[in-house]
Amino acid sequence: MVHKIIIAFVILTPLVLSSVINNNVEKCNLSYSIKKEIESYKGFATKIINSVNNQFKHSTYNHLDDFINAYGNRIAGSKNLENAIDYILKKSDLYNLENVHGEEVQVPHWVRGEESATLLYPRYKDLPMLGLGSSVGTPPEGIRAKAVVVSSFDELHKLSKTVKGKIVVYNEKYRNYGDTVVYRRDGASIASQYGAVATLIGSITPFSLATAHTGWQQYAENITKIPTACITKEDANLLHGMYKRRKPIYIEIKMEARTLTSATSRNIVAEIVGNKLPDKVVVISGHIDSWDVGEGAIDDGVGAFVSWNALAILKALGLTARRTIRTILWTAEEEGYIGAFAYAKAHQNETRNLDFVMESDTGTFSPLGFTYSGLPEVGCILQEILNLFTELNITNVQSPIDGGPDISKWVSDGVPGAALFGNLERYFWYHHSAADTMVAVQPDELDQATALWAATSFIIANLSFDMPKHLTPYQFKENDV
Ligand SMILES: *[C@@H]1O[C@H](CO)[C@@H](O)[C@H](O)[C@H]1NC(C)=O
Ligand SMILES: *[C@@H]1O[C@H](CO)[C@@H](O)[C@H](O)[C@H]1NC(C)=O
Ligand SMILES: *[C@@H]1O[C@H](CO)[C@@H](O)[C@H](O)[C@H]1NC(C)=O
Ligand SMILES: *[C@@H]1O[C@H](CO)[C@@H](O)[C@H](O)[C@H]1NC(C)=O
Ligand SMILES: *[C@@H]1O[C@H](CO)[C@@H](O)[C@H](O)[C@H]1NC(C)=O
Ligand SMILES: [Zn+2]
Repeated sequence: MVHKIIIAFVILTPLVLSSVINNNVEKCNLSYSIKKEIESYKGFATKIINSVNNQFKHSTYNHLDDFINAYGNRIAGSKNLENAIDYILKKSDLYNLENVHGEEVQVPHWVRGEESATLLYPRYKDLPMLGLGSSVGTPPEGIRAKAVVVSSFDELHKLSKTVKGKIVVYNEKYRNYGDTVVYRRDGASIASQYGAVATLIGSITPFSLATAHTGWQQYAENITKIPTACITKEDANLLHGMYKRRKPIYIEIKMEARTLTSATSRNIVAEIVGNKLPDKVVVISGHIDSWDVGEGAIDDGVGAFVSWNALAILKALGLTARRTIRTILWTAEEEGYIGAFAYAKAHQNETRNLDFVMESDTGTFSPLGFTYSGLPEVGCILQEILNLFTELNITNVQSPIDGGPDISKWVSDGVPGAALFGNLERYFWYHHSAADTMVAVQPDELDQATALWAATSFIIANLSFDMPKHLTPYQFKENDV
């Protein structure tokens, strides 16, 4: 997976949200009949909220807790991920979901192995670290080298002549995820150009209690692949302090990381088939894979289980909409949206039938509403729908979509799409770290997100009109994925 995808990710996930249309509903030109039609779902929305708060109270949390307890983290290529996928498929049948199946896709299989980083001089200190996905390992005896510490790529460029044979440490400042994650993604490639032998990068998080955060990295073409890992923000800061005091810094890094041959995984699909327009589809989704540390509870256990349980609840309530509601749990999101892009490609001829696509992959912390992309009318329709959720305080509609990596291909093709919008700051505290466990998950917040997901997907799937869209035909090129 090439640069393009990662660039798409960065473009689609600027955490600076613009063109807020909340409170600007008066600028919307929805017809009286459309407004009336959506308002007529007030009773339905209340019914879903009440069901989730009573009959199904904490059911999303409890399902997720069982699942996480049994499987833990689920990295692409692992047998454990496939076992976890089998479990969801089996449970989906048990809940009488329709057209339940897995769709095969080839995924990368990177394994971490044993790894360590140690500060040897000016004083001895273990440096907790996590190797980055796709990183090469070190020779068995490790790499021992002097370190250069910088706070930005600009600083590295200025010091480029001093970098050869050294370990480059980045102590970058966190701005927002999209702007900061470039250090994790490109840090090794940029340092390698100047002859660095390894890179250690301050973890990409706005807040730290000395945890390292992993994630994908991307070697540029034609550079020497050097081992690369994230260390804690605390240690990045410490090393920077030593460097500024002109202390010679020596570090030893040992990593067994390697990439095995690619493996077969599956996207999980389950539906409630529409009773009037079965070929037209509303998608609700999250990813089933995770990193290989922590438990993959918030990234993206919550998004996957909200999308799955919302469908199971609609089914249990005997609700069938005019259009099909399809839950998709993507595989290999963490390696660059591999499952999602393969699915979009395999189903390219159905893109025009996608009425609306939704994704939750930024946690369920304090659900506030939606970020969306699409024609302005889409925002107006979402705002009308959220008017049915005032009792949950879920009323925000903002554009563009922020944090919908797996639906990004469709959204860039003009399919209207939305992501769950909540407290991103809290999400990135835990993201890709050993702290991504059920302790970070709030059962009530999962209920709110589940109610929103179930009611919104049903209402959109049941409207008398399709979501407005302007498709931009896109031809897949082989090197896209
Ligand atoms: C509503 O109509 C006005 C005037 O035609 C236009 O400027 C505005 O962009 C429209 N708003 C939406 C959300 O379509
Ligand atoms: C990488 O090297 C190959 C062969 O020398 C060359 O054809 C290609 O353009 C290079 N790619 C980049 C991005 O420099
Ligand atoms: C898309 O293509 C597949 C396989 O060729 C076919 O089975 C399916 O009916 C097509 N769907 C549409 C909407 O054209
Ligand atoms: C909604 O917000 C109001 C005012 O901030 C607060 O009193 C109320 O408890 C909130 N309700 C929920 C369900 O969070
Ligand atoms: C779904 O739409 C149909 C047809 O417009 C309508 O009869 C039905 O009441 C709607 N379902 C709900 C739950 O509102
Ligand atoms: Zn995720």
